[in-house]
Amino acid sequence: MNDQKTAIVTGGAKGLGKAICETLALTGALVVVADMEIAKARETAASINGHGGKAVAIEVNIGEEASVLALYQAVKALSPTVDILVNNAAIGRELPILDITVAEWDRIFAVNMRGTFLMSREAFRVMKEQGSGKIISIASAAGKIGGLVAGAHYSASKAGVICFTKSLAMQAAAFKINVNAVCPGPIATDMTAIWGEETIRATAEKIPWKEFGRPQDVADAVAFLASEKSRYITGEILDVNGGFVMD
Ligand SMILES: NC(=O)c1ccc[n+]([C@@H]2O[C@H](COP(=O)([O-])OP(=O)(O)OC[C@H]3O[C@@H](n4cnc5c(N)ncnc54)[C@H](O)[C@@H]3O)[C@@H](O)[C@H]2O)c1
Repeated sequence: MNDQKTAIVTGGAKGLGKAICETLALTGALVVVADMEIAKARETAASINGHGGKAVAIEVNIGEEASVLALYQAVKALSPTVDILVNNAAIGRELPILDITVAEWDRIFAVNMRGTFLMSREAFRVMKEQGSGKIISIASAAGKIGGLVAGAHYSASKAGVICFTKSLAMQAAAFKINVNAVCPGPIATDMTAIWGEETIRATAEKIPWKEFGRPQDVADAVAFLASEKSRYITGEILDVNGGFVMD
C-alpha cells in the first residue's frame, strides 16, 4: 500500500508558500510546488529534493479554470491521491478605495477568491472519492478586521476565503475531509517588505508580540492542520499573529 502523501501548495515558489513546502516535505509528503513563477518554483523544488525531500514544480495560474484543471491532470499522472491542498497563493495591493478600479477589484478577486474556490473544488472532487483529505487556506488578519495597510479589495477577498472555508468544511465533513484556514498577521515576506521601514516599524508596534511573524510560524500551523493531529478540527480559522487580533 502507498502511504506517501501528496500535497499541493499554491504560491509555493517563495514567501510563506516556500516555507510551507519545505515543512510538508520534512513530514515525508511529495510536495507539488504550484506557482505562476515557474522558474522560482523549480528552484524551491530543487532545493527540497537536494535536502532529501520529494518535490515537483508545476506551473499554474489559480485564477484560470483551464490552468487549474491542467494542474490536477498533471498531479494525477504523478500520484493516485491528493491528500493535502494548501491554498496559499494570493496577490495584494495597497490602494485607497477611491483608487480601486473595477479592473483592479476583479484582478484581486480572480486570484484570491476564484483561485481558492477553483483549487478547492477540484481537490474536493478527488478527496471525496478518497474519503479523506486536508484543505488549508491562508486567509489574513485583514479578512477579520479590515486592512491596516492592505487594500479594501484584498481584505474583502480574505474575508471571503474565511467564509468559503466554513462553507466547504460543512459539506466536506461527511467525507472525513478537514477544511481549515490559517489567518496570519503581518509576516516578514516580499508582500510586506514593500510597505517600507516606517510602516513596518509602526505596524510591529501594534502587535503585542512586538515583531512580525516568520514564514516558519505559519508553516508550522499549516503542518499541524495537515497532520493526523487535526483529525476532529474542521471549519477552524487559526490565528498566527502574535496577539494582533484576538477573537
Ligand atoms: N506576508 C504577510 O504578511 C501575510 C499576512 C497575511 C496573509 N498573507 C497571505 O499569505 C499568503 C502568502 O503570502 P506571501 O507574503 O508569501 O506572498 P508572496 O507575494 O511572497 O508570494 C506569493 C506567491 O504566490 C504566487 N502567485 C501569485 N498569484 C498567483 C496565481 N494566480 N497563480 C499561482 N501562483 C500565484 C506568486 O508567484 C508567489 O510565488 C497569501 O495568501 C497572503 O495573502 C500574508
